[in-house]
Amino acid sequence: MIKPKTGSERAKYAASRHAAKMVKNGMKVGLGTGSTAAWLVRCLAERVKNEQLSFVGVPTSEETAQLASELGLNLSTLDEVGHLDLTIDGTDEVNNAFELIKGGGGALLREKIVAKASAEMIVIADPSKNVEALGQFPLPVEVIPFGRGATLAAIESLLEQSGYKDVQVVLRKRDEQVFVTDEGNNIFDLHLKMITNASDLTCELNLIPGVVENGLFVDMCRQTIIGHESGIVMIRRMAGGKVVTEQTDEITNLFSDIGEL
Ligand code: 5RP
Repeated sequence: MIKPKTGSERAKYAASRHAAKMVKNGMKVGLGTGSTAAWLVRCLAERVKNEQLSFVGVPTSEETAQLASELGLNLSTLDEVGHLDLTIDGTDEVNNAFELIKGGGGALLREKIVAKASAEMIVIADPSKNVEALGQFPLPVEVIPFGRGATLAAIESLLEQSGYKDVQVVLRKRDEQVFVTDEGNNIFDLHLKMITNASDLTCELNLIPGVVENGLFVDMCRQTIIGHESGIVMIRRMAGGKVVTEQTDEITNLFSDIGEL
């Protein structure tokens, strides 16, 4: 496996390595999208190789499907497996109420469908993703291309009625072209600065015709695993209606189990 080179990559690797241990033989597992989820896929591939772990992965994007199949993971589709035991995914922001902003990588629609079909969703991240309040990261909203201007007007009107001031709504581009998701849709990024009521906003956005889904994940994740570059991992999870936090010991040889490049 490649070695994490930067502090942020080491943190993502530490979180991913811990989360990968939660996958058991026979499980059906949703595989998230993004640079953190890519570490998870690599860690799972290591476990398959070294421990003969046997599980079925359902990727949340073409990007993840490509990496996972290159590394020889056994993959299926959500329609084939129907229901998943666990989904492990990255995030752009997570607050203390386990609410998330996702979609920085453009895969929010498949990610949300896969997470919803899972008995459990675990979020893996480096410490920069842990926030007091959601909204510094622009909220992605996936829209169908037809009537995009009308959908934009309806989103702006909703934001104004909901009291969001000085907001910017930006059509996402990549390489100067309008960004197209795996489902052939486009994304508006909502620069809101602070989201006060994620639960209301997610419902209201999804009522707008033309909006397919938005990047707020509310009431979906019950556990976060935040890795640190030292190898320490902070786990927060809901158990019996309470938040339980745990911290692993510093692992000085954390990265020694990875082969050379
Ligand atoms: C993709 C996502 C990613 O999970 C999110 O953007 C985090 O990515 P990274 O791990 O690269 O920071 O939601 O749609």
